[in-house]
Amino acid sequence: MEVRTKFRRDHRDEDFVMNHRLISWWQDGVIYQLYPRSFQDTNGDGIGDLAGITNRLSYLRDLGIEAIWLSPFFPSPMADFGYDVSEYCGVDPTFGALTDFDDLVTAAHNVGIKLIIDFVPNHTSDQHPWFVESRRSRFNSKRDWYVWRDPKPDGSPPNNWLSEFGGPAWTFDHRSGQYYYHAYLKQQPDLNWRNSDVREMMFDVLRFWLDRGVDGFRVDAIHHLYEDQEGADNPPNPAWREGMAPARRLLRKYTMDQPETHEAIRDIRRVIDRYSERVLIGEAYLPIEILMTYYGSRLDGFHLPFNFHLMSTLWKPNDIAALIQAYESALPAGAWPNWVLGNHDRSRLASRIGSAQARVAAMLLLTLRGTPTIYQGEEIGMTDVPIPQDRVRDPWEKNVPGLGLGRDPVRTPMLWDGCTNAGFSNGQPWLPVSPNFRDQNVELQAGDPCSMLALYRALLTLRRRESALSIGGYEPVDVSESVLAYERRYNDQRLLVVLNLSADTVHPRCWPISGELLQSTSMQPGDRSGGHLAPDEGCVFRLQD
Ligand code: NOJ
Repeated sequence: MEVRTKFRRDHRDEDFVMNHRLISWWQDGVIYQLYPRSFQDTNGDGIGDLAGITNRLSYLRDLGIEAIWLSPFFPSPMADFGYDVSEYCGVDPTFGALTDFDDLVTAAHNVGIKLIIDFVPNHTSDQHPWFVESRRSRFNSKRDWYVWRDPKPDGSPPNNWLSEFGGPAWTFDHRSGQYYYHAYLKQQPDLNWRNSDVREMMFDVLRFWLDRGVDGFRVDAIHHLYEDQEGADNPPNPAWREGMAPARRLLRKYTMDQPETHEAIRDIRRVIDRYSERVLIGEAYLPIEILMTYYGSRLDGFHLPFNFHLMSTLWKPNDIAALIQAYESALPAGAWPNWVLGNHDRSRLASRIGSAQARVAAMLLLTLRGTPTIYQGEEIGMTDVPIPQDRVRDPWEKNVPGLGLGRDPVRTPMLWDGCTNAGFSNGQPWLPVSPNFRDQNVELQAGDPCSMLALYRALLTLRRRESALSIGGYEPVDVSESVLAYERRYNDQRLLVVLNLSADTVHPRCWPISGELLQSTSMQPGDRSGGHLAPDEGCVFRLQD
């Protein structure tokens, strides 16, 4: 990639070479999560496709990201929109064909963009031929590929385990007289990772895609991979309150984060380590201390166990500073940090903290130490889109209505321009297009030097240019009711980031006397002599000694 070449050329000194030998693209680059169903449709069926992504690669290149992570595009009955895979080594016709995938890999690599894909090891679709076989009879050769248990003597499920998407985690199979386990929908039976044939098949899946040139995997729901074999009841969760997801009524003592998981991750890592410069990212919503164990005891687990904590932390300087401190100090030696502010499962950033603060959050995400992941549409400040009852698609919302658990609002089509359906599709989009699309879209923002898109581009450029931001150290500087400030350092380069998390003008104590303003969230040079930050403003300064 041109940028990386330049980066290298600018830093020829010994120190740089020594320090950078071990820096991989997934460390100093930024990842963009792309939700294929909603990115760009090219065949008018109202659902995005792989050819659409290929057509939009120049947008992603100009944005300045290093890699895209694609949510599932594999053959699937779409009960959970692709997270119910019925064939691991193929492309669902909705998204195109394998040749479209190959074209996408080639085209992405040609413009210097890496491709990460989803790997869904915990469960398949109930339509997957493996499960179809498995449920045929208790004596089928694939019976043990899934998690089957006898009913209790009264015919009820083997224990009280709950499905993440509502209801029991066990579904009775009348023909064979046993229950099968599913951490999610009943259409998503859990694979039995204790079975060595299952493991081998799944490793073959990884090799299939690695051989096609993918640069890594985001591994789905890894904390659910194993369940306790004894199958005792999960204990009640004392913190559960009305309004929370029904599945949270119980602590997932026997259904989550079981010890064997780490062995499986190590095996997966071994498979991908046979290929050079690949990345393994894990999806696990876990407390920081437990999350850290997902790096592996010898850093032989995930390169990046996703750090989702910013999404659930109160948007207050003290809370964020405490989180950064806790995360930084819990990181095992040599482990590389990462930060996430949004994804296809969580309410959009601008809806959580407001559009003004979303700009400050962008600056935070792109100036923290560690690999940032940007969720599609955040770069233009998209908000959650209200979904009328008759257009609800998410099975979670259908199973557990009215609690705001549905994920449709964050998965609506990308807003490209002010034309029909925001330039996403000529057909009827599978989810409603944001009603704001005429005022908020890529085309409009690309022509506005102060837009959110302009800010993202500027921050991404800055991050690539400044080693202090991409690979430098982190030092907390100040935290108050309104302000969060920290330094990023690399050799003698010192950058100061000062963020105003309030809607008032503030005079930060740490204001630099002689500092060069590199970037502000307002995109205005402004008069900085007064030592103040405007409401909802953030700045990056270069400090001079
Ligand atoms: C996590 C994925 O992000 C989510 O979208 C999916 O529904 C579940 N895993 C089940 O695969």
